[in-house]
Amino acid sequence: MPRVRVCVLISGRGSNLQALIKACADPSHPAEIVLVVSSRADAPGLAFAAAADISAVVISHRDRRAFAAEVQVLLEERQIDLVFHAGFMRVLDAGFVEAWRDRMVNIHPSLLPAFCGLHAQRQALAAGVRFAGCTVHFVRPELDTGPIIGQAVVPVYPDDDEARLSARILRMEHRLYPLALRLIAEKRVRIVADRVEIDGVRIPEMAALSPEEPAYEPLA
Ligand code: GRF
Repeated sequence: MPRVRVCVLISGRGSNLQALIKACADPSHPAEIVLVVSSRADAPGLAFAAAADISAVVISHRDRRAFAAEVQVLLEERQIDLVFHAGFMRVLDAGFVEAWRDRMVNIHPSLLPAFCGLHAQRQALAAGVRFAGCTVHFVRPELDTGPIIGQAVVPVYPDDDEARLSARILRMEHRLYPLALRLIAEKRVRIVADRVEIDGVRIPEMAALSPEEPAYEPLA
């Protein structure tokens, strides 16, 4: 079976890109990352692409439509099947998002629909929630919305600050994002009435991670 061809969009640190690269390094993984696009030339995450010999392109994001047009040309040239946002800090042109409907995925450091937008972990602390986490979802034009593929939950402790909570969530992001990629690449994810089913199940336990339990079940 040909591997699913993935482009990852980044703007910064790239730790989620690194987690995806690591997962796909196994040649039996059903997906391969063939392209990284960064909106910033100084994104530290570009080093992970270089280290893994993955082609990386910097496209500075001055104008929303021009950016989308340039990326679209690349995606077609490289025959990309899926686009994964990994700390990509720009709002994309709505037409471009629609063109990639159900083939474009994002990870956000909150249990959506709570705490959209910037500083989600800070918002969670300010709200006094007992649990926080991260969400992987298909991208829709409105910020941080779209059918939810998976979520991971972490506790919030009384002495947490933003850095500690962010680090705890990030550890789960690095498990959840590769899991979501694998499930999509294995063609186990379907969208029905704008909600996700995995293996035909609407609220699939497999993509609901908590720190205690490894949830992924390989195909028989
Ligand atoms: C992550 O917390 C991700 O959920 C959010 O931006 C951060 C990116 O981190 N969208 P990294 O660049 O993947 O290290």
